Amino acid sequence: MKTVVFGTGYVGLVSGVCLAEVGNTVTCVDIDSSKISALQKGQVPIYEPGLSELVLSNQEKERLSFTTDAVACLSDCDIAMIAVGTPQSENGSANLSAVFAVAQQIAEATERSLILVNKSTVPPGTGARVQSLVNEVLLGRERSDLQIEVVSNPEFLKEGNAIDDFMKPDRIVVGCSSDDAFDKMERLYQAFSRVGYKLVRMSVPSAELTKYSANAMLATRISFMNELSQLSEACGADIEDVRRGIGSDTRIGKSFLFAGLGFGGSCFPKDLNALKACYQSAGLQPKMIDAVLQINAEQRLRFLRKIVDAFQGNVQGKVFGLWGLTFKPRTDDVREAPAHTLIEELIKRGASVKCYDPKGIENTQKTLAYLGSSDQLHYKNSPYECVDGADALVLTTEWNEFRSPNFSKVKDHMRGDIVFDGRNQYREKDLQEVGLRLVAVGKGTSNPSSSATL
Ligand SMILES: NC(=O)c1ccc[n+]([C@@H]2O[C@H](COP(=O)([O-])OP(=O)(O)OC[C@H]3O[C@@H](n4cnc5c(N)ncnc54)[C@H](O)[C@@H]3O)[C@@H](O)[C@H]2O)c1
Repeated sequence: MKTVVFGTGYVGLVSGVCLAEVGNTVTCVDIDSSKISALQKGQVPIYEPGLSELVLSNQEKERLSFTTDAVACLSDCDIAMIAVGTPQSENGSANLSAVFAVAQQIAEATERSLILVNKSTVPPGTGARVQSLVNEVLLGRERSDLQIEVVSNPEFLKEGNAIDDFMKPDRIVVGCSSDDAFDKMERLYQAFSRVGYKLVRMSVPSAELTKYSANAMLATRISFMNELSQLSEACGADIEDVRRGIGSDTRIGKSFLFAGLGFGGSCFPKDLNALKACYQSAGLQPKMIDAVLQINAEQRLRFLRKIVDAFQGNVQGKVFGLWGLTFKPRTDDVREAPAHTLIEELIKRGASVKCYDPKGIENTQKTLAYLGSSDQLHYKNSPYECVDGADALVLTTEWNEFRSPNFSKVKDHMRGDIVFDGRNQYREKDLQEVGLRLVAVGKGTSNPSSSATL
């Protein structure tokens, strides 16, 4: 099927590439001309494992192309897909201006009936608003002979595993109001639904709410464990044992139960705030979402307090080596990364930070550009360079290369002896063997010194 995807970010680019990989002809459109000219040359502007290879091979096979010219590529398309950003507005709600702009552009340009598939994460009711908008534009053009049906098809991929998630989805949620639109969606996704039927059909608002609900549920599990980690420290328990103990219950499951620095990224924080705004505009007050957000915001500050307390409340002049800048491993996305909060807070308190990340340095340099002139922030080329002369090491993202480091080498490079493990990756005895001390999250039993600081 001839498909046009609007937006070449993490979702649009992955969707476009995977749809091309199974034989569809896909054009990806973006208003960012520098991104498009890089993609036309086969250069992928984001880091996502396996993505570059698929972009190149599908370009070569002429199933995938990139343009800024939306009008030209709409002339013969069956499906137009919206995958633009829906960032957080000042009042917490989702900013839908890019979604509406694309819908308007499609309705103004198309010369044939098509399915307008919205993949961006949007509040329930947005599909209906987009449908009214496109109907009005078609009416204004005196082209009521054309049909544009708005379909909600939220995306559940995870950065770092996006290709696999798109190619082998747990489910494909389709919110639509006609059998014809559903039939086209079945055809579009048949290649991803061969092992077992994956499509879940529902109304448009149900599909929109399903996406927010999925993110809110996952974020709730993380905040639940982070809140438990406080009690764990206070009562001498180990949150990792508790995690294994409850995660092995099949009714609970193992995923998203890790205590640590809390969630970040481009989705959970903004989507929970948008969901909260939906409740408020419906005259409702969400208690659970508020709690999840509050626990999350406090969790990274509690970790900061552990660091500051370990230096008797004063980190002025101290040097920290920090491993990990992205909000999670296997991505270059640093949006809402806990590491950034820690860097900002440590620098504010007079410390200096030497940091390293396999993929996140460039984006951090842009996001924290305002600290650029500070001689307190340094970017390093390797984890060991990063701890040179450091009073402490802080682990903020669990990249593979940080999972089993040479602690003896770490100790030799450092001038201090503390490792703050924000992701509960390390075993205390391995550190003790080389003369390092461990401060982790929720480890009351094996780490009484950290609970004492609370
Ligand atoms: N990133 C994720 O892991 C993820 C997962 C599931 C869902 N989502 C949702 O998918 C949507 C997109 O997220 P993302 O992370 O890919 O965003 P992104 O910020 O990485 O990319 C958005 C792209 O849209 C482009 N764009 C903006 N206005 C445009 C227009 N009028 N025409 C064409 N292109 C335009 C931007 O230039 C940018 O390249 C959001 O609603 C997000 O919540 C994201």
